[in-house]
Amino acid sequence: MSYRITSFDQYEKEYKESVENPEAFWAEVAGHFSWQKPWEKVLEWNFDQPDIKWFKGAKLNITENCLDRHLASRGNKLALIWEPNDPKERFIRYTYRELHQKVCQMANVMKRNGIQKGDRVCLYMPMIPELMFATLACARIGAVHSVVFAGFSAQALADRITDSNCKMVVTTDGSYRGAKEVPIKRVVDEALEDCESVQKVVVVERTNWGVALQEGRDVFYHEEVKLVSDDCPAEPMDAEDMLFILYTSGSTGKPKGVVHTCGGYMVYAGYSFQNVFQYDESDIFWCTADIGWITGHSYIVYGPLLNGATTLMFEGVPTYPDAGRFWQVCDKHSVNQFYTAPTAIRSLMAAGDEHVMSYSLNSLRVIGSVGEPINEEAWHWYNIHVGKERCPVVDTWWQTETGGIMISALGEHGPTKPSHAGYPLPGVQPVLLNNEGKEITENEVEGYLAIKFPWPSMIRTTYGDHDRCRNTYFSHYKGYYFTGDGARRDEHGMYRIIGRVDDVINVSGHRFGTAEIENAINADPHVAESAVVGYPHAIKGQGIYAYVICKKSPDNFDNLRAEITETVKQQIGPIAKPDKIQFVSGLPKTRSGKIMRRILRKVAEGEPDKLGDTSTLLDPKIVEEIVEGAL
Ligand code: WTA
Repeated sequence: MSYRITSFDQYEKEYKESVENPEAFWAEVAGHFSWQKPWEKVLEWNFDQPDIKWFKGAKLNITENCLDRHLASRGNKLALIWEPNDPKERFIRYTYRELHQKVCQMANVMKRNGIQKGDRVCLYMPMIPELMFATLACARIGAVHSVVFAGFSAQALADRITDSNCKMVVTTDGSYRGAKEVPIKRVVDEALEDCESVQKVVVVERTNWGVALQEGRDVFYHEEVKLVSDDCPAEPMDAEDMLFILYTSGSTGKPKGVVHTCGGYMVYAGYSFQNVFQYDESDIFWCTADIGWITGHSYIVYGPLLNGATTLMFEGVPTYPDAGRFWQVCDKHSVNQFYTAPTAIRSLMAAGDEHVMSYSLNSLRVIGSVGEPINEEAWHWYNIHVGKERCPVVDTWWQTETGGIMISALGEHGPTKPSHAGYPLPGVQPVLLNNEGKEITENEVEGYLAIKFPWPSMIRTTYGDHDRCRNTYFSHYKGYYFTGDGARRDEHGMYRIIGRVDDVINVSGHRFGTAEIENAINADPHVAESAVVGYPHAIKGQGIYAYVICKKSPDNFDNLRAEITETVKQQIGPIAKPDKIQFVSGLPKTRSGKIMRRILRKVAEGEPDKLGDTSTLLDPKIVEEIVEGAL
């Protein structure tokens, strides 16, 4: 295995080898990284527990691989370009040497404030360079980072902090997002009213609002950093030590903390970045995600830096000051690889072609998509107007739990087809299962997407609750990792991801469990019960449709709708706001009390004539009312 695949023939050969002898394959890939101590065994695994160990016995620190090992040859190369929200503000660039220094300083500030190896640190910050420094600083000293997207509410933040007992929060005074100014520190203060584990809060100044510090708990980063050295040794970590926790929604309960470990995650993040984006030494890579999601972890921070790449980080939003912002940034910094989400593509497409036409986009070589199925119309628009039909569109399928891209074209190597993620990366063994959990081996079929063999960056556990990990991913189909997605394989064996087959809704590439949103709605004092389903939404991919039963008929439905929306904002955050709220007097339930979501989904999708069999319902009449009142 050479680390970089440079033709489709080579892909086919490597793929075959990776299946025939996975351990030899991954040992070779891992050989391209620097380890403080080599592994004793490449892989030990069973999917029943599950118990998965990659590179057992090895020692490493991922930041030595991201930073230190590049200093000799790439010390003066740009590691990070930071583009602010406001195009009039100056961008900032950091060389590898400078980034190394910033990370060490941040690490020393954390240590000075009591953080040790194994402690959990919550990062609740906008997209500013210090978020990258803090992420890497945790990894440097062996603390476990839990980055929480700074759009989540105080309640959602508190839940996540408490679940993993974080000892420290790193945050900012405020943030700029488009035309909005957001009081970040105020959200943290509110969250911490219920969080006993947090001893220190480090506040980075972004907006200079002069926020108040809580005596004994809060410190300003700019003051602390003056007191520390810029030398910080990298903590030796076991390959299977925890690197980070990242919360994601599932079909039941509260969001769970997906755990990734040091060695395997490093190998897969580095390997997948190099191959999917076909990064060349002088390229500028831009992933538009937020570091609060897995895409940002793997393809803004770790993947690029592991390869000595120049990574661009953007503070703002695609439509501010106008819908040409992404393309202006591409031209401004001569971006070579551009990686974004279908929802952004669709919203820019809707804003009109003139925005994209004003920019040359000459530097682009590979353009990528992630987070949800990309519909054909958006795929073609992206291909024609952004890629100018010269850049391969890499439609990358993966998940928080997989740690890195699993199914995708490798740059220009390999066929691409609209709305198809394509073939698995070498080392990845996807299968389609039927209802009985049997593998479907033919092509031109549809089934449940599962993975039958471990890969280095797979989820190890869900923090504090291993049973939940087993039940969610490893018990539906024995011997497989179950993705929760349905997929189709075409006549050539290319995969097309259809979407979730569980009670997870994907809104603008963000995952929510229906139960999670229902709980938030039910927190409203006027609500007796609710049921939430997804429905096709032109921009967001899926929208949130809520059926709500009130305790007593409200005086004003619109006011109550606004109130429920506000409750959801408080419980989860603005990104989980329902798009439609229909008030109903009952829900379609089976005799055993289970809500028949299939029916609610069909109504929300505008297909009330396709409800199927409703005879098993407790009260079939309720369906008529729901159909009549549909929004
Ligand atoms: C969906 C994001 C179709 C899928 C990296 C998956 C996709 C969920 C694609 C994971 C794609 C992601 N085509 N669907 N290229 N990429 N998905 O954990 O349903 O935020 O299970 O990870 O997004 O979302 P997550």
